[in-house]
Amino acid sequence: MSEQDKPKKTLSLKKTTTADVDPAAPPKLRSGARAKVALNRLRQQAADAPAQEEPTRPTSRSAASKRPAGRSNSGPQGDRGRSDRPRRPAAAGEQRDRSERPNRRPTEGASFSRNDRNKEHPQRRSVAYDAPARTRNDDERPTRRPHPRDDAPRSGGSFRRKPESGFSTTQQFPVFAPCPQGMEEVLEAELQALGYENAKMGKGGCHFTTDWQGVLKANLYSRIATRILIQLAKAPVHNEDDIYALAHATPWEQWFGPDDTLRVDTSAIRSPMQSLQFCNLRTKDAICDRLREREGARPSIDTVRPDAKVHLFLDATSATLYLDTSGESLFKRGWRHNKGEAPLRENLAAGLLALSDWDPSAPLMDPFCGSGTILIEAAWIALGAPPGIWRPFHFERLRIHDDRMWRDLKEDARSRIAPKLEAPLVGYDLDPAVIDAAKRNLERAHLTPDTVRFEVGNALEALPIAEEGWLISNPPYGERLKGNQEAFWRDWSAWLKQHYAGWNINVITSDLTLPNQMRLKPKRRIPLYNGSLECRLFSFEMVAAGYR
Ligand SMILES: C[S@@+](CC[C@H](N)C(=O)[O-])C[C@H]1O[C@@H](n2cnc3c(N)ncnc32)[C@H](O)[C@@H]1O
Repeated sequence: MSEQDKPKKTLSLKKTTTADVDPAAPPKLRSGARAKVALNRLRQQAADAPAQEEPTRPTSRSAASKRPAGRSNSGPQGDRGRSDRPRRPAAAGEQRDRSERPNRRPTEGASFSRNDRNKEHPQRRSVAYDAPARTRNDDERPTRRPHPRDDAPRSGGSFRRKPESGFSTTQQFPVFAPCPQGMEEVLEAELQALGYENAKMGKGGCHFTTDWQGVLKANLYSRIATRILIQLAKAPVHNEDDIYALAHATPWEQWFGPDDTLRVDTSAIRSPMQSLQFCNLRTKDAICDRLREREGARPSIDTVRPDAKVHLFLDATSATLYLDTSGESLFKRGWRHNKGEAPLRENLAAGLLALSDWDPSAPLMDPFCGSGTILIEAAWIALGAPPGIWRPFHFERLRIHDDRMWRDLKEDARSRIAPKLEAPLVGYDLDPAVIDAAKRNLERAHLTPDTVRFEVGNALEALPIAEEGWLISNPPYGERLKGNQEAFWRDWSAWLKQHYAGWNINVITSDLTLPNQMRLKPKRRIPLYNGSLECRLFSFEMVAAGYR
């Protein structure tokens, strides 16, 4: 990404940061293999793709000092982390249910608790994936949590209007799916393989159009997108009043109402607007004013656990309003509790597997596996386990939401999960505590211990697990690599040359001199970002002795 493409201004009023700010035919699930085919074509097309706007990841930034004097009546959203209307006390376990459910171990009585199941059915030990079967908690909870004021008379004496979205099932929505920088091509390939034929990559993500079911599927199946945003409005803007007018003309009531809480984020690239916070406030005011005019009350602001999340994106000439259907970033699959040192995000790991052209039926090693992200992600890809199967989404809180449709989609997705892996997946790490963490993550990802073998071991002594395969890894770098770095890379390189002929070696690192240090010529070097860290994915093809 060139300097000028980087977001110049971003604004987020988050208190707790989420880390980011992501068809009728049955989806094909192996993004690695599909991406391989599609990528060749995409690489040809990439040069022709028009530049597209990106709702950039808002990074936390205090804009308090820039707050303009003239603000509207509504309370500023800038009350970080707290609602401007007292929030009702959560019913026991309720917030947990929403935010922590994906990490929950299978409930008692459910058929997929591996240990319980294996006690009863020892033959099932060979099952690689503890299929996330339906549970009451999972599928039968209400679409939208009841609000104490539901059906209660309004202050004006009128009753709450029945929320109806008024959408037809075939209505098409323009969607933007952001992704880690550098992953746009593989995201486009993934989306096209999932059936979004018109998916087209832009800066920082992909655009496509789809119906509501397609929105749900994108959330459920995309391994590379960071979130799924529906574009609700876009227009040229010259000042903050134009932004207010655009937001006020947008039919928010089709999506959420006064009983839902709201959060607005603003980001910008080359926007001439003076204060992003003021733009943020005008957007929030317009949404609240519109809902008050139509439904007699305004939503309260909750920057921590909002029901509805709106993104305002500004560029040099226009404003775009997006509704976030994902909520928490999609890389949060729900299994990670234990992070080793510098873990990769799950969607970055999925993108690395796709960029490395990994064949999901081939052996895979990560000799610096840390908390196991690459290998666990690979196991889910190889088994066809949908990345969103365990987690809640914001779309479940919207008026348009059809719980039956969502349940059917998940049921269908579960029925496609393969019972067993075809090839070995193996990870090593020097640190026993990190290997323990990886094993715990594996368990939480509903994978049996025989799916991915995690072992304490030194990468400099790790032998290949098969004649041929893929090694995809994120080795330590800089000060994290203790001792003589030059010697380390020289030794690892010598080890690879000696033992890994026939293997595809893929290394993501922020050390751009790594090939020199390893004295290897990369077959490919793909620029990408790990968060804000500029990296390269270097691919080396190891051939018998003398490779350079
Ligand atoms: C950047 S982290 C990998 C993070 C991993 N990709 C994840 O998502 O959690 C690098 C890992 O390499 C491990 N490591 C360092 N030197 C090693 C060696 N010689 N052999 C094996 N592992 C090593 C560290 O303990 C650390 O966990």
